[in-house]
Amino acid sequence: MDNIIKAELLKGLSASPMYIPAWYRYDEEGSRLNDVCIEQCKWYYFHRFELKILSDILSEIIDYFKDSRMVVDLGSGNATKTMLILDKLLEKDESLTYVPVDISTEFLNKTASNLKTIYGNKLEIKPIGDEYIVALRRIKTITDTKLIVWFGSLQNVSHEKQLDYLLEIRNAMQVDDKFLMTLDVTDTSRKETIELAYLDPEGYSENFNLNSIHRLNKEMNGNIDVSKFKIKNELVANSASDNCSNVNVWIEAIENCEVDIGKLDLTRKFQKGERLYLHEEGGISCKYTIEQLEYILNKASLGLEKYWRNEHAAVIVVNRK
Ligand SMILES: C[S@@+](CC[C@H](N)C(=O)[O-])C[C@H]1O[C@@H](n2cnc3c(N)ncnc32)[C@H](O)[C@@H]1O
Repeated sequence: MDNIIKAELLKGLSASPMYIPAWYRYDEEGSRLNDVCIEQCKWYYFHRFELKILSDILSEIIDYFKDSRMVVDLGSGNATKTMLILDKLLEKDESLTYVPVDISTEFLNKTASNLKTIYGNKLEIKPIGDEYIVALRRIKTITDTKLIVWFGSLQNVSHEKQLDYLLEIRNAMQVDDKFLMTLDVTDTSRKETIELAYLDPEGYSENFNLNSIHRLNKEMNGNIDVSKFKIKNELVANSASDNCSNVNVWIEAIENCEVDIGKLDLTRKFQKGERLYLHEEGGISCKYTIEQLEYILNKASLGLEKYWRNEHAAVIVVNRK
């Protein structure tokens, strides 16, 4: 894993424009900062609207998953939303298997231990601390009828890689398995609302986003001085059916400077105004229309079975075609 992380960082920091992969924000501290941001930042609308719609439709949606004996949770985080589903399924089933997947292994183990305390023997917990693709290849070998949940789903990965993830999910599904995803469906004419959600005046998102830089300095012997950079973001709206809208987030040099990343054996010069993106090419925090979602699901041989939406969040039940 360490060598893969180094290779991915080196690839991004040697690219033009430079970037740090978005998943790198999520060490234990990054996961904590993400929780603080989604729970306390009043500008971050998605989490509130996602919880609201999930609670509104819970009784209706659970019918789609009545045969599931196992819940796989992609990017489980603190599993707050997944617990809504687990509680509902456990009203009729005596026990379930829960497979949380998360790249942030320390945080994953904490979540697994919390859930063990809450659910006891009703939940058999089998955590997988790895990247989605690696984890999904292991999940593919499991024959139990599964529900795969992915809260936030495609919005956390760049558009370039979204189809790869969906294809891997498709491959991991048996015929009767279901896939539940949530998505940000905010109308992109609301540019200010969206941009404020990812760079708020109180600094919640900035703290979370800059965790990539702090982690790089700490773990890779970097010396990036964040006071020599300014963090910025912008919404890139895209209405093409084979695409989606996204937000770009970057730090921009406010003066010429040079940075060293010791463990990567890398020195980079920054000209004033030069950017270092905090995600892969193709942006992050993607916004979809239902038509755009149907297009990409179709390409991955997945079918949109049913969806519910409010102003900002959609909950989607997906099946294998
Ligand atoms: C936005 S949080 C969502 C957490 C939780 N599911 C929720 O909805 O509140 C994304 C989670 O996915 C994990 N994650 C991000 N990229 C990942 C990747 N490529 N592979 C595995 N886990 C990843 C992060 O560590 C984090 O816990």
